[in-house]
Amino acid sequence: MRRLSDGAFHSGQDLAREFGLSRASVFNVLTQAESLGLTIHAVRGRGYRLPDPVEWLAHADIARHLGELNAAYDVRILESVDSTNSLLMAEALRGACDGTVVAAEHQHAGRGRRGRAWYAAPGGSLTFSVLWRFDGGLQAISGLSLAVGLAVARAINRHSRHPARLKWPNDVLVDYRKLAGILIEVQGDMHGTAFAVAGVGLNVRLRESQRDRIDQAVIDLDEMGVAAGRNRLLADCLRELHAVVGVFRQHGFAALLAEWLALDAYKGRAVSLHLPDSQKMQGIAAGVDATGAFMLRTSDGAQHAYSGGEISLRLNGRQ
Ligand code: BTN
Repeated sequence: MRRLSDGAFHSGQDLAREFGLSRASVFNVLTQAESLGLTIHAVRGRGYRLPDPVEWLAHADIARHLGELNAAYDVRILESVDSTNSLLMAEALRGACDGTVVAAEHQHAGRGRRGRAWYAAPGGSLTFSVLWRFDGGLQAISGLSLAVGLAVARAINRHSRHPARLKWPNDVLVDYRKLAGILIEVQGDMHGTAFAVAGVGLNVRLRESQRDRIDQAVIDLDEMGVAAGRNRLLADCLRELHAVVGVFRQHGFAALLAEWLALDAYKGRAVSLHLPDSQKMQGIAAGVDATGAFMLRTSDGAQHAYSGGEISLRLNGRQ
């Protein structure tokens, strides 16, 4: 796919020769790529090309965009993996360092929040996970998931004319459509040491076949007119994550609260909260508190705080 993404045609014969494959195997590889969601343009007598060239991930480009911050990260790029979060959780248990990043061109078992699947075609999104270690134990991590959303929104807003905003706990929305999702997984002791893996899935260019598989309103950077390449975007996310997690380590989520509230897409809107015990709460979204808990104002005027990853928040009247 890297060979085809220069936009020019490559004959089956040339590809077969270059990669030491039979022409039938080249054809099988191309068919497989199409089944993953890539569009391949095939013309008899000319060969194959990708009509929408992809900027594939490249270490050198990411390092160049990161500049001196490159030293804070160990970025690993994989062609294909089940889930960058699953891999990095396993690596963390084997001792991987703070700042390890796993980015993948394709995940065959990408995971979303609340046990859902996360679909993305190769080159059509940015899918990566970052590992941080914390000395203050699991209690030092509360609010991290909101901080990560804030960093991703900041990175997008460097390039976008349409402001990216936040939906508790950490969806990144544009015009109430989902642009990026974040999955945080943590492990450790309450007061000893702990680590967190933050996985980000950012829609760059969604194909129709993918949109059909997603049961909510979505948007991608292509539609927003964001021209920045995937390597630049990944570097910008890592830059903002470094800044935000630095503040978070020192002062907690409280120091990021005002900025989060300024980007809150749901503030003042009528919402329902779907709790894990299938209870449903109705009310008005009233922002978040200094621990990152969601605040719901009920009809009696009382404010209730909700935290926990299993809660789903929906805007009344929309999906
Ligand atoms: C959600 O909104 O439900 C969270 C989606 C998180 C998706 C990302 S893609 C990179 C990382 N690896 C995964 O398996 N999931 C996260």
